[in-house]
Amino acid sequence: MIRSIVRGSGSALPKRVVTNAELAAQVDTSDEWIVERTGIRQRYIADDSETTSSLAIDAARKALEMAQMDAKSIDLIVLATATPDQTFPSTASRVQAALGCQGGAAFDVAAVCSGFLYALGVADSMLRTGMARRALVIGAETFSRILDWEDRTTCVLFGDGAGAMVLEAADVAEEGPGILASRLHADGDHNELLYVDGGPSTTGTVGKLRMKGREVFRHAVVNLAEVLEEVLQEVGVGAAELDWVVPHQANARILDATARKLGLPAEKVIKTVEKHANTSAASVPLAYDEAVRDGRIKPGDLVMLEAMGGGFTWGASLLRV
Ligand code: COA
Repeated sequence: MIRSIVRGSGSALPKRVVTNAELAAQVDTSDEWIVERTGIRQRYIADDSETTSSLAIDAARKALEMAQMDAKSIDLIVLATATPDQTFPSTASRVQAALGCQGGAAFDVAAVCSGFLYALGVADSMLRTGMARRALVIGAETFSRILDWEDRTTCVLFGDGAGAMVLEAADVAEEGPGILASRLHADGDHNELLYVDGGPSTTGTVGKLRMKGREVFRHAVVNLAEVLEEVLQEVGVGAAELDWVVPHQANARILDATARKLGLPAEKVIKTVEKHANTSAASVPLAYDEAVRDGRIKPGDLVMLEAMGGGFTWGASLLRV
């Protein structure tokens, strides 16, 4: 059967680290509150020279290096972002030009924090139907640019970064590697709980992120547990058989609550939220890459990726490394 196999991963972070203590000097918050409510201790914030595309290009190069593949052999780039360099063309086109990939397709997908799962689902479908052979799937964000730095209820939660995977279509045996199943969902009824108050066709401005955190939290735990069960059932494996879960890194309490709901031990959940904060579409591939490079995720492992974000959107993918 034809499956999309993950051949490599890479990630990139801005140079500058901003600690909770530094934020507490600007807004009415404290390290203690942020750590207790979210698990976040620091985040990386892009300077003027760092953009969504520059982080994406850096992550993509590292993923290609791990995969030992030439950028010219890539015939599909799907990039998830809610903070593109420009309204158009897509940030994926900028990555394509910088890497020197030619001839294939390149486009962005917008599903905010679930963006990487959406991008992975789209790329996987295109690879399995023969529309492309080798894909770069990227999640990249500079959320710091759409934060209201005077709103303590949101500005402490997010950070910037990028993560990438190289996928290749290959004919494999049933027990072989690759993406085994994916499920994506959206429920457009909750716009007012998590949105940006601007855009080209409304205010003509970029806008700032607005969120009712407590309500988002409630939806996140329920939706994530449901979609994880859905994917497990589709493949016919139990939660106990998973080697790792790589969740969207929004809040350590959401990660813990979701793991508890599924009966998963906390040691199987990859957590980077304390260092990266919520990097939206970048968070899953950033966490995945970190766990591959430090030797936790190994060939043959069964790994669940999952995310939930604005829209609401949510999804999960199960892969054998
Ligand atoms: N520092 C100090 N106090 C803060 C604060 C901050 N940065 N932000 C909010 N507070 C205050 C609130 O004003 C409130 O005070 P009040 O009771 O006097 O009104 C109090 O802390 C509790 O706020 P609340 O929003 O109820 O806290 P919470 O326990 O729900 O935690 C979040 C807030 C945002 C951390 C949490 O709801 C969350 O993580 N939600 C999910 C967000 C998410 O995942 N979003 C992205 C999805 S992709």
